[in-house]
Amino acid sequence: MSGLFRRLATRPGATVPFTIDGVQAEARVGDLLISAILLHRHALRRFEFGPGERAGYCLMGACQDCWVGLADGRRLRACTTLIESGMAVVTGGADA
Ligand code: FES
Repeated sequence: MSGLFRRLATRPGATVPFTIDGVQAEARVGDLLISAILLHRHALRRFEFGPGERAGYCLMGACQDCWVGLADGRRLRACTTLIESGMAVVTGGADA
């Protein structure tokens, strides 16, 4: 893994398969969606108002910087959403 976040301690528990832009990835049960993505990537999504990428800011549900899209059309705030098996995250080309 080579993302923005690093897991500092191995946590027991089942793994959760999901995808980021169609690429298989893996998280742990209980991981937040922002952690699951940023353990693999350096950004969550392309910035919709200019060049660059976004990777969250407050990490506590206040700033709204971590919204991500899923292939099924849902938009989720990644820092307050637990990863679910089979989630298909679409980043819009961030960190590609
Ligand atoms: S990182 Fe601020 S609301 Fe998610």
